[in-house]
Amino acid sequence: MVYEDSPGFAESLDREDPLAPFREQFNFPREKNGLSPIYLCGNSLGLQPKLAVDFVQSELEKWKDLAVDGHFQSERPWVNYHQHATAGFAELAGAKPVEVVAMNTLTVNLHLLMASFYRPTPERRKIIIEAGAFPSDQYAAASQIRLRGFDPESDLLEWQPRSGELHLRLEDLAAMLEREGNSVALLLLPGVQYYTGQVLDMRAICELGRQHGCKVGLDLAHAIGNVELELNAWGPDFASWCTYKYLNAGPGAIAGAFVHETHRSPDDFLHGWWGNKPSTRFEMRRKFDPAEGAEAWQMSNPPILSLAPVVASLRLFHEAGLDRLREKSAMLTGYLHWLIETRFGDRVRDITPVDARGCQLSLVVKDKSIDARALFDRLCERNVTGDWRNPDVIRVAPVPLYNSFVDVFDFAERLSDALGD
Ligand SMILES: Cc1ncc(COP(=O)(O)O)c(C=O)c1O
Repeated sequence: MVYEDSPGFAESLDREDPLAPFREQFNFPREKNGLSPIYLCGNSLGLQPKLAVDFVQSELEKWKDLAVDGHFQSERPWVNYHQHATAGFAELAGAKPVEVVAMNTLTVNLHLLMASFYRPTPERRKIIIEAGAFPSDQYAAASQIRLRGFDPESDLLEWQPRSGELHLRLEDLAAMLEREGNSVALLLLPGVQYYTGQVLDMRAICELGRQHGCKVGLDLAHAIGNVELELNAWGPDFASWCTYKYLNAGPGAIAGAFVHETHRSPDDFLHGWWGNKPSTRFEMRRKFDPAEGAEAWQMSNPPILSLAPVVASLRLFHEAGLDRLREKSAMLTGYLHWLIETRFGDRVRDITPVDARGCQLSLVVKDKSIDARALFDRLCERNVTGDWRNPDVIRVAPVPLYNSFVDVFDFAERLSDALGD
């Protein structure tokens, strides 16, 4: 595509964009310093869908009017409310409905799933994560190792970028597994690396895990609703994702989990009554009778007020279609990358790999005479919302459901201004 550095060009792309009407379905933050918001932070917290407000309100009304009867009455009874997220999760995860469930929050799910799938023995006890993994994943993996009586100092291995490089190379993971594979119990890796925005080759990672007899778990926090996933075909043992980033379900909203169909209802996981088969759950038996598939990993009855926005938001994704979203996303990030290179190439570098990226671009200030953190603050003053990640990255993510090409162009304008051009 041939890009142009002009507002007219951005406006013409918006006019031709079949997804443009979805923008109207979201609430945007307020004006600041007389400037309209440029919200490029859907990789951290997605904007509020107007439909989510209606869905939460409807559950509050139900609670008010029906009280306990809300569990079994009404259009969407609470007793199986989580199942309203199943089709949408399955669609976005490339999974079978039986493989996905809405439950808990991301780190909690990683722990629960590791309780099932990280079963270390003295011979095979190590976990591989990526260097610079999101801290919660590092803490979760290290504490699981410790809990099982092993030592994260020696048993938590890091897949590192090569010296002087920023991105992870698959051949380095393959080489690591050639060396260490027999002692590795689990690969716990992201779909999209949160800092660099690199999309990892999840299919190849699953294949490597299988070749070396390791279990594979994926943290899809930055991948779900962002890039195409084919979990059933790729075959990780488990995965989990939060829903407050690209899925726009609100702060701390209930997360999603995937358990591959080959692991249907094994006995050796942690049980709670909501994982019991719905048909026998209220018989209050002494013995746990597992639900089919991923639902068996549920523990408690889910927080409906946190689930309602997930259900609302998944509806929008279904209407928009991930293939169309991906197509627009590639154009948005392509345009943003081009504007950054063209206007600011001498001072700002986009470190996200061009051939392996989703919505997010990670920007680094390469001109050391510029204080990067102060530049970020000047962007905030100009009502640009991205986020800062230590030590030196400004993350910006135009998301195709609600961002426009004019947002991308205006971001470049405000960055020019913030740089003093
Ligand atoms: C990659 C990754 N893993 C884990 C988490 C932690 O999520 P939660 O607080 O929902 O457990 C986050 C949060 O942003 C994340 O980005």
